[in-house]
Amino acid sequence: MRILIVGSGGREHALAWKLRQSPLVKDIFIAPGNGGTALEGTNVPISDGDLPALVRFALDEKIDLVVPGPELPLVLGIKDAMVAAGVPCFGPDAYGAQLEGSKAFAKEVMRAAGVPTAAFGVFDNADAARAYIRQNGAPVVVKADGLAAGKGVVVARTVDEALEAVDDMMVRRAFGDAGDRVVVESALAGEEASFLCLCDGETVLPLPSAQDHKAVFDNDQGPNTGGMGAYSPAPVLPESRYGEMIDLVIRPVLRELIKRGHPFTGVLYAGLMMTAEGPMVLEFNTRFGDPECQPLLMRLDGDLAAIMVAGAQGRLHETTLPLKRETALGVVMAAKGYPGNYAKGMTISGIEDAEALGPVKVFQAGTEQRDGASVSRGGRVLCVTALGDTLADAQALAYKAVAKVRMDNAHYRSDIGAKGLKRGA
Ligand code: AMP
Ligand code: GLY
Repeated sequence: MRILIVGSGGREHALAWKLRQSPLVKDIFIAPGNGGTALEGTNVPISDGDLPALVRFALDEKIDLVVPGPELPLVLGIKDAMVAAGVPCFGPDAYGAQLEGSKAFAKEVMRAAGVPTAAFGVFDNADAARAYIRQNGAPVVVKADGLAAGKGVVVARTVDEALEAVDDMMVRRAFGDAGDRVVVESALAGEEASFLCLCDGETVLPLPSAQDHKAVFDNDQGPNTGGMGAYSPAPVLPESRYGEMIDLVIRPVLRELIKRGHPFTGVLYAGLMMTAEGPMVLEFNTRFGDPECQPLLMRLDGDLAAIMVAGAQGRLHETTLPLKRETALGVVMAAKGYPGNYAKGMTISGIEDAEALGPVKVFQAGTEQRDGASVSRGGRVLCVTALGDTLADAQALAYKAVAKVRMDNAHYRSDIGAKGLKRGA
């Protein structure tokens, strides 16, 4: 098989690394890829949103399976475009990708499907949004409807802060078109968990639970990032509850989308808040999470290429997801300053030393290869991921590996996994 992975993050490095292990796979191309994917396959200089060029490449290179990593190509309709060209693609169509691409759409589907989620209003008009906020009070959450690279959500502690967020999004248009419509919803309290399932329209194969760490500093302080680390399983969502989660939040959505003529294929990722009143959906993503993907794929024992081909063909019921029992934990090494302005061009060394410590894999994100060395070019640079018998073991090994990696101006959180350990995992 010849596979085309679309994207350039740590998630795409993990996908390339795992897919390359499949005996079915002969060649892997990554568009546009990074310094890590270059070690697993061939990087192709096509951006993740350039659908015509991606389709042309897939046809010219006789690609057997396209694996989109990030949300942008999915929302733009890469699945529809590839299928029209006769190329199998593991991901949802543009209609299904609206679950991530439009928060108002996701809320409307959840309401129709009876999925538990925070009470909300959808507003195209700033005055109406302000009135709703004044009427309902704080804390309250204001979300730009469209894609905003993880930055379009403000959890406001006061009414003033929420009104400011409305001005930012709808008047000053900080996120462009993405903020012309906002969702205002009640703030939920609890611990978060990521629950990702592979879907082929009907069949659901759950991946084990994971937990992301969105804030840039320890103890969840500072601004939100794309994710500073993740581990799996997350004790806040134990395996004994996966069935309940599927029935509560995954199956109802799949049924609703079948009813609408758009069966959902690909990864359906529920961002959950485990509240005192039960699990509630904060958001849906329609792809693997980054960095959740890195620890999750380290635990996967099966043939990811075979699973994804089966998924793209509606045959997931013929496959299984064999998993390692160990815990996997990934620590993101970022450039100091991220998610604001950050330094670039740092040379990275010590990756081999880190990987020699045991079951460790250093996934690369914002890097490129220059004269045989990995050099940083992005905010999230690496995700140092380790396996351990327990969460404490995985955490200890991951941080031992982090200490082996040398990069100037590195910043990482030192408490990845702490919430799980507090639960006595
Ligand atoms: P989202 O992109 O919708 O997942 O939001 C990003 C982050 O904002 C989530 O991971 C939560 O930490 C937080 N968040 C979103 N919605 C809510 C909510 N209703 N209550 C509390 N926190 C929220
Ligand atoms: N780690 C959260 C996300 O990928 O959206």
